[in-house]
Amino acid sequence: MTLRELKPGVHTVGAIDWDRPLFDEIIPLPDGTTYNSYVIKASEKTALIDTVDPSKTHELIANLNALGISHIDYIIANHAEQDHSGSLPKILSLYPGAKIVTNPKCKDFLKELLLLADEDFITVEDRQTLSLGDRTLEFIYAPWVHWPETMFTYLREDKILFTCDFLGSHLATSDTYADNEAKVYESAKRYYAEIMMPFRTIITKNLEKIRDLDYTIAAPSHGPVYRNPKFIINAYNEWTSDKVKNEVVIPFVSMHGSTRIMVDYLMKALMKRNITVKPFNLPHADIGQIAMALVDAATLVLASPTFLVGPHPAAAYAATVVNALRPKLKFVSLMGSYGWGGKMPEQLTAILTNIKAEIIPPVIVHGQPRGNDFTLIDTLAESIQKKHQALLG
Ligand code: FEO
Repeated sequence: MTLRELKPGVHTVGAIDWDRPLFDEIIPLPDGTTYNSYVIKASEKTALIDTVDPSKTHELIANLNALGISHIDYIIANHAEQDHSGSLPKILSLYPGAKIVTNPKCKDFLKELLLLADEDFITVEDRQTLSLGDRTLEFIYAPWVHWPETMFTYLREDKILFTCDFLGSHLATSDTYADNEAKVYESAKRYYAEIMMPFRTIITKNLEKIRDLDYTIAAPSHGPVYRNPKFIINAYNEWTSDKVKNEVVIPFVSMHGSTRIMVDYLMKALMKRNITVKPFNLPHADIGQIAMALVDAATLVLASPTFLVGPHPAAAYAATVVNALRPKLKFVSLMGSYGWGGKMPEQLTAILTNIKAEIIPPVIVHGQPRGNDFTLIDTLAESIQKKHQALLG
C-alpha cells in the first residue's frame, strides 16, 4: 500500500514489499506483502497509525514528505512486532516531540525490542480516547491477535477501525481496497491460518468485542483495506467457528514409494466415500497451503516412512508446524512404512501434544504394503467416514 486517501485527512502512507519471499524465515509469501501505515491530519493534532518494516522506512518517510507532514504528535503502536514498529526510532528522530501512544504491555515490548525510552511513550487504557481536535481515536485492547499486547484503534468520526495484523493478508497489490474479494479471501485465509489460527478461541472474543462497533472501513496493517468489512468479518466468523468440513488433510513423505502407495490407496478409499482429500507431498509442499487446508478439515492423516529409527524429518517438521498452529481437527491418524523397526508413530504423536483430537489407530506396515495392509487402510477410511458422518450428519 502506498500513498492514497481513505477519507479527507486520512491517508495510507505504508509500503508494498512486492517480492519478499518469506516471513519469519518460514512463512512463504507467494504474493509478497504490504506494511500499512496511516496518517490522520486532524484540526489540532496529527497521528500516525503504526509504522513499517525497517527495510521500508525510506518509503514511509517519502510518503509523509509527499503529503507535507512536517509535524507528528502521536504515533499509535497497535502492535510491537517489528514489521510495524521497526521504523519507530527513525520516525521519532525525524519528528521530535512525537510520542508513541500504546498500551502498557506494548510499551514494555517496544522498549525491549527497539531500545526506546520511557519518555517516548504515552500509555492508554482499554477504551480510552484521545482527541485530535475534530477527530477522536479510541483504543480497543484486542489481545492475542497475534501477540498478547495487540490493540485496535478506532477513528470515530470517519468510522475507520485500524486492526493491525488482525483481518490482514500478505498480498502485495496496487489496489487500495479489497474489492477483488475472491483473491483477498485466499490471501486472508492463508494469513489467518499461519498467524491467527492458534488463537482461534480468543479471536472469537475479540470479534464479539467489535461486533456492535460502527465502522465502515477496516484498515489492517497487511494487504488491502476493507470498505465492505462484513466480507472479512464473515470469513473470520467461519474460520474461527467450531465447524469442520468433511475433509482429510494428508501431508506425506515417501523415500522409496511404500508410504506413497499407502497414501494413494487411502485417498482413493476416502474419495470413494465422498470425502475431500487434500494431499501434500512434504518435501515439495508450501507450508502455507497446508495451514490453509487445516483451517477447515475434520481429520489429519500424517504419513511418513521410518527414517533411521524415527519419522522422516519432513514429517516431524510438518507435525511441529501442525502442533504450533493448533487447528480445530477432530481426528488424527498416522500411516507409514518401516524397514527394520523404529518408533515413528510414537515420536510423531509425541510432537502433536497441542492437538486435542481423537487418535484413530495408525496403519504402519513392514516394507511394501500388500494384502492385509490394504484392508487396514480400508478400515481406516471407513472409520474416518463413520466419524465424519457422526459429527457432520
Ligand atoms: Fe505483521 Fe505481527 O506483525
